[in-house]
Amino acid sequence: MPNVNINPDDVMIKLRGLKKIFGSQDVLLDVNLDIRRGETMVIIGQSGSGKSVILKHMIGLLQPDEGEVSVDGITISTPKYFDARTIRRKMGMLFQMGALFDSMDTGENIAFALEILDKSSKEIKDTTDYLLDLVGLRDRRNLFPYELSGGEQQRGAIARALANKPDVFIADEPTGNLDSKSAMQIIKIIKGLNDQGRTIIVVTHESYLDNITRRIIRLRDGQIEKDEINQHPIDISKEEFVK
Ligand SMILES: Nc1ncnc2c1ncn2[C@@H]1O[C@H](COP(=O)(O)OP(=O)(O)OP(=O)(O)O)[C@@H](O)[C@H]1O
Ligand SMILES: [Mg+2]
Repeated sequence: MPNVNINPDDVMIKLRGLKKIFGSQDVLLDVNLDIRRGETMVIIGQSGSGKSVILKHMIGLLQPDEGEVSVDGITISTPKYFDARTIRRKMGMLFQMGALFDSMDTGENIAFALEILDKSSKEIKDTTDYLLDLVGLRDRRNLFPYELSGGEQQRGAIARALANKPDVFIADEPTGNLDSKSAMQIIKIIKGLNDQGRTIIVVTHESYLDNITRRIIRLRDGQIEKDEINQHPIDISKEEFVK
């Protein structure tokens, strides 16, 4: 089962006193969070509450105005740390509305992520096959994004984000605009990733997702309002998933 062998001292992502202001808008005021290795969690908050901004700090796309971000023991929020690539190699990020490249079919989209990692052609083929199977898109391999449903596109984007075998998988609104059946498929895939010991962070404004993981973080007014443990997260393989 996921989340059983988590060492409370083994912190994968640490946010301390995170503050971020855009113009006159205080988006993050004082965000403090420890995410442990192997943990699965949901960050939930209203639209505009700063969820995507937090994730961008975790992958080094944004620098805080104040505070500290560290990943796997490395502080990435200092001007001295400029090798964001090293951190991103550990991370797979499904961006909000993370589209596939329109000019490539599904298989090519995944293979492309492997090509830029300088993998051999055999490795590219084998890993692409594996990832297509993982997200249930083997028979969609030669279709272009415009030929895929929204849920299929999202699954393709998950497969692409997993190409570098990341230790941490971050999904920003993975089920946004999807019907409940497609949303369930996505959540199943994401929860399954945790079985391999990955750290999983899902961000959403959809309150119906607040019972899919054990740990739930609620963001409000630039701060963490609640950090809760849900003793009975729904077992998606058994229960009916209602949106
Ligand atoms: N680069 C930026 N420059 C200026 N303002 C920004 C920037 N990035 C985010 N913001 C602002 O910060 C606020 C929080 O944005 P964020 O994208 O984190 O919201 P969110 O919680 O992810 O919302 P949603 O649920 O709609 O995705 C928004 O008001 C947004 O306009
Ligand atoms: Mg967002």
